[in-house]
Amino acid sequence: MDKYLWIVNKQKHYNKEAAEKFNYVPYQDEDGESFLEEKTYAAYNELAEYLKQTYGIVLEVISAGRSLETQQSVYDHFLAKRGQEWTENHVALPGTSEHHTGLALDVNPHGLKPKMVQKLIDKTPALKRYFDKQERESGKLDEMYHTLHNVLPYYGFILRYTDDKKPITGYNGERWHIRFVGKELAKEITDSGLCLEEFVKKLEQQKPAGGGSGMGEESGGPSM
Ligand code: DAL
Ligand code: ZN
Repeated sequence: MDKYLWIVNKQKHYNKEAAEKFNYVPYQDEDGESFLEEKTYAAYNELAEYLKQTYGIVLEVISAGRSLETQQSVYDHFLAKRGQEWTENHVALPGTSEHHTGLALDVNPHGLKPKMVQKLIDKTPALKRYFDKQERESGKLDEMYHTLHNVLPYYGFILRYTDDKKPITGYNGERWHIRFVGKELAKEITDSGLCLEEFVKKLEQQKPAGGGSGMGEESGGPSM
């Protein structure tokens, strides 16, 4: 099984042995010091550059890799703000978040602005809120997400959580959460219409009896 098909979810928890198969680079996201898996980092930079040059879309990285502590504070923040039920449907408990793998990012697209305007926006939170609201209410944000989702597989990413797969993933759709698996697999998974759990399960079922070792066996967790 390709190591980039690593699943971390409510059933299969993060484990350090799986992480040791990857190389990591430090990365600064909106929350501060973070990290990304090195191929994810390179692919993400290419994706961001392509969107900027071709569509005038600038991606803001809200969240990249997360430690157990960071995940705990994200969880606690939403638990206090939105309550138990909402939080369980949107935020993973520490140890069960795909963000621990460094293979996932939360991104927010914005329209490219003239340099001077962007400088002002970066310095003025009220101005940022104004432009964000304008993009949201004009439908531009939806359009930018649509473009992002269409190009994702060409850069090795899949859209990880969609509303229709909630019974399997355990989470509501998240149009901002992208997951790196590599170009070939990203195209295959996207074309299949399956979520990552379904795709991996199908591969495991196709495996010849007694041959090879699946991710489920390696991680010691149950197959979904
Ligand atoms: N929002 C996703 C499920 C996470 O917390 O990892
Ligand atoms: Zn996320």
